[in-house]
Amino acid sequence: MELHQALTTTGAVREFTDEPVTDGQIRAILDVARFAPSGGNRQAWRTVVVKDPELRRRLRDLYLVGWYEYLAMAAAGLVPWAPLTDRTAEAEAVTMAAAMRPADGNPGGMAEQLDRVPALILLLADLRRLAAVDRDLDRYTMVGGASIYPFAWNILLAGRDQGLGGVVTTMLCRQEAAVLEAVGAPDGWALAAAIALGHPAGTPASRLRRAAVDEFTSVDRFDGAPLGS
Ligand SMILES: Cc1cc2nc3c(=O)[nH]c(=O)nc-3n(C[C@H](O)[C@H](O)[C@H](O)COP(=O)(O)O)c2cc1C
Repeated sequence: MELHQALTTTGAVREFTDEPVTDGQIRAILDVARFAPSGGNRQAWRTVVVKDPELRRRLRDLYLVGWYEYLAMAAAGLVPWAPLTDRTAEAEAVTMAAAMRPADGNPGGMAEQLDRVPALILLLADLRRLAAVDRDLDRYTMVGGASIYPFAWNILLAGRDQGLGGVVTTMLCRQEAAVLEAVGAPDGWALAAAIALGHPAGTPASRLRRAAVDEFTSVDRFDGAPLGS
């Protein structure tokens, strides 16, 4: 697939056909994705391909805890877990999480069926190998993840190249300790994401909704002039 097309049309896919994703496909995807950049080229990631049905169900149940909290906060008009937010409003919204479960008989979406996605890959990060330049700042840190998520995105792009779709999810990070324990991760590792992959069901939306360049770009100052054409 041509690069421009891949970059502008690779959206989140959460519905899959029953067609399996083979180990060979996952291996080929990771073999491409591993060329992602990382701070100091430390490549501080590890992937765990989750196949065991019981482990998958456990991860699904852990995912749903955060998922319903997310839906409750979004329904209350909040940006869920924004580093800067109204914590009181957030706590109030979370009390409505149980109400976000689908009604009996409604199968729900990918979250409720996470155990059945064709491929499920956990992405772990080695905290001893992350060059987190902003570690000591008095604000929420973000640089460490920047050494891991390009790899996650590469997994989606490499999957797309094989006709697969998927989504990077972070909901399981709400239950990080339980997830790390479930997969036997040693101390010093963090959970960065769980990536679902599969053959897309239906035709993905042809147009992704993204802000235009002028909505997030200026020259010299935050409130500076627009970039020229
Ligand atoms: C860091 C990150 C975390 C995300 N976490 C989740 C998640 O936990 N669950 C989920 O369903 N989608 C998750 N997504 C997918 C986003 O919701 C999706 O990329 C975004 O809404 C754009 O969707 P689109 O590509 O279909 O337009 C995540 C994406 C990123 C980049």
